[in-house]
Amino acid sequence: MQREKKVRAGIAAGATGALVTASALVALAAAPSATAAVGNPYEGAAQYINPDWREDVLEAADVAGGSLGEDMRAIANEPTHVWMDRIQAIEGIDRQHGLEWHLDQAVAQAGGSPLVFNLVIYDLPGRDCFALASNGELPATDEGMERYKTEYIDAIVEILDRPEYENLRISAVIEPDSLPNLVTNASHPPCQQSAPYYREGVRYALDRLHEVGNVYSYIDAAHSGWLGWPDNASGSAQEFASVIEGSTYGWDAVAGFVTNTANTTPLEEPFLTNPNLQVGGGQVRSANYYEWNPDFDEIDWTADLYDRMVAQGAPSRIGMLIDTSRNGWGGPERPTSASSSSDLNTYVDESRVDRRNHRGAWCNPDGAGIGERPTVSPAGYAESHLHAFVWVKPPGESDGASEEIPNDEGKGFDRMCDPTYQADKLGGAYTGALPNAPLSGWWFQEQFEMLVANAYPPIGDGPTPDPTEDPTEDPTEDPTEDPTEDPTEDPTEDPGPGTCAASFDVVNNWGSGFQGQITVTGGSSGVSGWTTQFTLPSGTTIGSLWNASYSVSGSTVTASDVGWNGTLSAGQSTSFGFTANGSAPSSMAVSCS
Ligand code: BGC
Repeated sequence: MQREKKVRAGIAAGATGALVTASALVALAAAPSATAAVGNPYEGAAQYINPDWREDVLEAADVAGGSLGEDMRAIANEPTHVWMDRIQAIEGIDRQHGLEWHLDQAVAQAGGSPLVFNLVIYDLPGRDCFALASNGELPATDEGMERYKTEYIDAIVEILDRPEYENLRISAVIEPDSLPNLVTNASHPPCQQSAPYYREGVRYALDRLHEVGNVYSYIDAAHSGWLGWPDNASGSAQEFASVIEGSTYGWDAVAGFVTNTANTTPLEEPFLTNPNLQVGGGQVRSANYYEWNPDFDEIDWTADLYDRMVAQGAPSRIGMLIDTSRNGWGGPERPTSASSSSDLNTYVDESRVDRRNHRGAWCNPDGAGIGERPTVSPAGYAESHLHAFVWVKPPGESDGASEEIPNDEGKGFDRMCDPTYQADKLGGAYTGALPNAPLSGWWFQEQFEMLVANAYPPIGDGPTPDPTEDPTEDPTEDPTEDPTEDPTEDPTEDPGPGTCAASFDVVNNWGSGFQGQITVTGGSSGVSGWTTQFTLPSGTTIGSLWNASYSVSGSTVTASDVGWNGTLSAGQSTSFGFTANGSAPSSMAVSCS
C-alpha cells in the first residue's frame, strides 16, 4: 500500500504544482509519466562535489607541491560518488561524513537548481565473492539478507525519502561486481553461496529506491575485459534482465547500466580500433592480450551491452555511465601510434594504451592515470547511449592493501593487490599493483600522485599534442620501443654504486615542439629518491612534465621523483616525460643524483 502510494506521489506532487520549483517543472514538462521521468538525470544539472574527497585532494596537493600539486587542485571540484560501503557509513565514520550530512550539503550546493547526487549502494551479503579486498560485513545468509534490507537499504531509503531532498536527482550505482560475478564466477563456492542473496538484494534495492521517486538506478555491468566475450556478454544480458524483470517495478526502476566501476579499462584503444584486423596471420582479437574478446574498451562494451539489453526487452531510453576516474593511461608509457610490428602479440602489446600485464589486473594498477573528466552526454559515441562519464571510484582511494592489514571493516588481504605475486587469475603474470597500499577505500597518496601525473587527457597546461596527427613523423621509427630496456646490459652505462644514471630520448617531434622522456636507472646499490638535472636548448620551454616534480631556473630543469617512483633497485629503471615548445635537441646530457 504504502509503496504504491509513494511511487505515484513523486509525480503527483509535481503535477499539482503547489510546491514545485521552476527546475522541477522543467523536468516534469519533459517527463509526463513515471517511465519517461527516468531519462538522463545528468542533463541540465550540476553534480555534487564531495567535500570529504575535496579535502583529501587539497591535502594531497600540499604534500605533492609543485606543478603536480597544482594539477591536483585543478580537479578538486570534480564530482565523485559517495560510497555507502557499510551500514556505519550511513551515519558516518571518522572523517567520512554520513548520508544525511552529504545530502544537506548537496541541497546547499544546488541552491534551488537541479543537482545530481552520485551514490554507490555497496553492501550485499557475501559481497565481493570472487575477491577478498572488499569483502563486506554481511554474511551470505538469510540473516545477512535481513540486515541488508532493514539496516542498510531501508535506512538509506528513509533518509533519501525526506521531503527536503525531493528536488535532488539521486543517481545510484547498484552493487558493483555483484551480478557480473554470478555470470562468470558462479562455480566459485563463495559466489555460489552469495548468488541468491545478490539477486534478491539487488531487486530489493531497485524497488525500494524506485519508491523514493527521485532515484535513478544504474546497475553495475563490470567492464569490457570481464564481460566482453560474446558468451559472457549474452550471459550478463540474461542475468541482468532476469533480475530486473523479477523485481516489482521491472524496467521502470532502472535508468541504465554503469561500466568500469573502480576499474582502469580504457575508454578507447585509439590504435586498436578493428578487432578483426589481420596482423601476422591472426586477428587482433586473437592476440594473447585479448584472448578473442572483441570488446577492447568501454566504448565497445557499452555499445554492445546497450544492444543486448534492448534485445532482452529493456526500453530504448536506458543509458550508460562509464567510470572514467582512473582509465586515462597517459604519461610516458602511453603509445603514440600503432605498432609497425608484423608479429601479432608484439603489435598488440606495442599499440595498446592499457599498460596492465593482463586485463584482469584490478588492484591499484601501476601506470594508470585519471581519465576523462566527468562529462554529461559525451558527444561522439552515439551507439553507446551514454548518459555521462562519471567518477565512481574517487581517485586516490585504494583498491586494497598490498599486504595483510588487520581491520574491523571485514576486508581481507587479496594477493591481487600484492606486487610480488604472480597470479593464476592473470595467467601467471605479476599483478602490477602498486606497493605500500592501504586498505580499500583508504587514501593512497602515492597512487593519487601517479594518477594525476598520468592523467589522459592531461590535467593543466600541457595538452599532450596528438602525435598521430603529425604528417612528418618517421614511420620507420618505433615510438613504443621500450626505452627502459635493461640498461645493465650495456656495461658502459653502469651508473656505479649508490648512484643513478639518466638518459634522454625524443619520443615524438612535431617541429615546433617535442615530447621527451628521461629514463632514470638505479646504480649497483640502488637509489631511494633521485633528482635529475638537464639544460634545454635556449628558447625551449617545458609545456608539461609528468611523473616527476620539477622546477625551472633559466633553461635548467631540475626534476625529482614523486614518491612512488623514487626507489629503484640496481639496474631498475623508471621514466618521466615532458612536452616542450621549441626544437628537439638530438642529444642532451642528464645528471642524476
Ligand atoms: C571499498 C570501499 C570504498 C570504495 C571507494 C571499495 O573498493 O571496498 O570501502 O568506499 O572502494 O573507494
